[in-house]
Amino acid sequence: MSVVVGATPVVDDLRLHDLLDLLDAGERERAARKADPHPFVTAHALLRSLVAEETGADPRTLAFVKRCATCGTDRHGKPHVVGMRDVHVSVSYGEHLAVAAVTRLGEVGVDVEDLESADFDGFNAVTLDASEVAHLDGLHGDALLAARALTWARKEAILKATGHGLVVDPSQVVVSAPGEPAALVEWRAAQHPPGATQVGDVDVGAADHRAAVAVLTTRPLTVRVQRR
Ligand SMILES: CC(C)(COP(=O)(O)OP(=O)(O)OC[C@H]1O[C@@H](n2cnc3c(N)ncnc32)[C@H](O)[C@@H]1OP(=O)(O)O)[C@@H](O)C(=O)NCCC(=O)NCCS
Repeated sequence: MSVVVGATPVVDDLRLHDLLDLLDAGERERAARKADPHPFVTAHALLRSLVAEETGADPRTLAFVKRCATCGTDRHGKPHVVGMRDVHVSVSYGEHLAVAAVTRLGEVGVDVEDLESADFDGFNAVTLDASEVAHLDGLHGDALLAARALTWARKEAILKATGHGLVVDPSQVVVSAPGEPAALVEWRAAQHPPGATQVGDVDVGAADHRAAVAVLTTRPLTVRVQRR
């Protein structure tokens, strides 16, 4: 059993209109409200394509709803595919790259991070446990930023799989050292801990990005990466 993760560069204006055609009216409205719609459109078109390929559905007729694990609203939160309770999805995007994940194994979270997003004073204090700070000892320059970005992507993938997002303090979600296989080492947050959680790194093929995926399952995780 596997999780499929698609990764693709954010499209330019030429491709934008083709991809808009895949989205539903609500997604197109959201895209129109974005200062830069390209990342959003790329990510949601990728998600639709992946789900369609995995399920045989028409990407244009898929419907998604959101559910917030914290307040219960359907106005924000984790996405779900209407009518496909056994299909779990997640999406993440930045200025240059979008990723999406689909699996039947269990709740899933995926996250992609630009190395630049980890380049600020105070990163360690805001996001890391002391044991994770120690893992970064001796790293400098891009190697440090890559290690930070990977650690951050693993944490955010886990928090998207649980549906908490950053309502949970990420420094309370301890993950393995960047050079070791991805894993949730300890859940110290006050919120109810997830059951078995599998984490995998995702090679998106871009030196300036790091990505990870997490699935709430006891079964071993095989990550199938599709770069598009
Ligand atoms: C989830 C979260 C960490 C993602 O942040 P980000 O790095 O800016 O964005 P990413 O590109 O990685 O992911 C965006 C996608 O995450 C998904 N997402 C949003 N909230 C989510 C949640 N609680 N759990 C899982 N996925 C979530 C959405 O699909 C979103 O895409 P969309 O808005 O285009 O539909 C952040 O939005 C967050 O913490 N949200 C929760 C906030 C919250 O619940 N507050 C309490 C309200 S009562």
